[in-house]
Amino acid sequence: MSTASAAGPLLSVQDLGVTFGTADGPVRAVDGVSFDLTEGRTLGIVGESGSGKSVTAKALMNLLPSYAEVEGSITFGGRDLRALAAARERHFWGVELTMVFQDPMTSLNPVKRIGEQIAECLRVHLGRSRKVATAEALDLLERVGIPEPRKRLRQYPHELSGGLRQRVVIAMALACGPRLLIADEPTTALDVTVQKHILDLLDDLRRERAMSMILITHDLGVVKGRADDVMVMYGGRTMESAETPTLFGRMHHPYTRALLETIPRIDAPAHTRLVPIPGRPPSPAEVGRSCPFAARCRHRIDDCLDGVPPLVPVPVGAAGAEGAEDASHHSACIVSVGSDGRGDS
Ligand SMILES: Nc1ncnc2c1ncn2[C@@H]1O[C@H](COP(=O)(O)OP(=O)(O)O)[C@@H](O)[C@H]1O
Ligand code: SF4
Ligand SMILES: [Mg+2]
Repeated sequence: MSTASAAGPLLSVQDLGVTFGTADGPVRAVDGVSFDLTEGRTLGIVGESGSGKSVTAKALMNLLPSYAEVEGSITFGGRDLRALAAARERHFWGVELTMVFQDPMTSLNPVKRIGEQIAECLRVHLGRSRKVATAEALDLLERVGIPEPRKRLRQYPHELSGGLRQRVVIAMALACGPRLLIADEPTTALDVTVQKHILDLLDDLRRERAMSMILITHDLGVVKGRADDVMVMYGGRTMESAETPTLFGRMHHPYTRALLETIPRIDAPAHTRLVPIPGRPPSPAEVGRSCPFAARCRHRIDDCLDGVPPLVPVPVGAAGAEGAEDASHHSACIVSVGSDGRGDS
């Protein structure tokens, strides 16, 4: 993944594990996930539903329920987030580290006016006066492209469209000047025509503020051109990670390749059906004994069922060739898959 600056990465996650105690036994939702994020960069986390993306984000945001058992370390700006959470020091969640969820209504209070909600963030976290907070709320609504912002300050969430509500949530997430914004499928609930506008807005805001971002999506196409680095998750584990051009140029893992086939092509005839990945993702209870993708992988060999493949550097050059390794490109597949997608192991 990205090279850390001399001061170290803004965010460093090492060996993150999350297990939920449920009536049916422990559910391992995230298993041994590690990554670094350098200040100012965007990391795309991509995977199908149930891959462990949101649980990873919630672990960073200290939003997991009390019955979740968390392992590993999370360091943000040199501070140990898990230790801060344990000490109930909550002051910088919502300030330096904020999150935008898939459904804007999750973050909005339906019975409070928009202006009050944004101003409240500023008053509570930054101690702004009511007057200053309202003026800043107006600026923020303008910046996220909400038409007639003065009128919107006095409206309630239900009076706005889904796209405008998500812009309000983005304004709230930006209010305190975060160093890291986590956007978890921020456009999945929105109309297709609105999706690109919101993604472009997030990208513009990120550049303008030199903010770091984690962009979570099930769509590999969304991270192309928007994320600097990509981490592909499946069954709670990292399947492949690389800088974005490397991932698209020298894709290694069969799961990443399968995800790519599910992206709609711009030049495809209208109504072309996408190829869904056959089979189902593993349930978290099944994770841990073999390659998580084994049940659906057309390159599977017997060894794939014999333990969980480790995430290792991918050799540079032809797939499977001996030679230099790319320190930023890792894959958790024991079979070398050629660029034509054929296994050659
Ligand atoms: N609060 C919870 N209790 C029990 N299991 C959970 C909970 N939250 C998530 N899970 C399970 O963890 C797995 C990963 O979920 P999640 O991170 O939400 O996936 P996604 O990649 O779609 O965001 C899923 O199988 C989900 O059912
Ligand atoms: S380790 Fe085996 S089952 Fe897993 S992705 Fe690679 S080839 Fe497929
Ligand atoms: Mg999710």
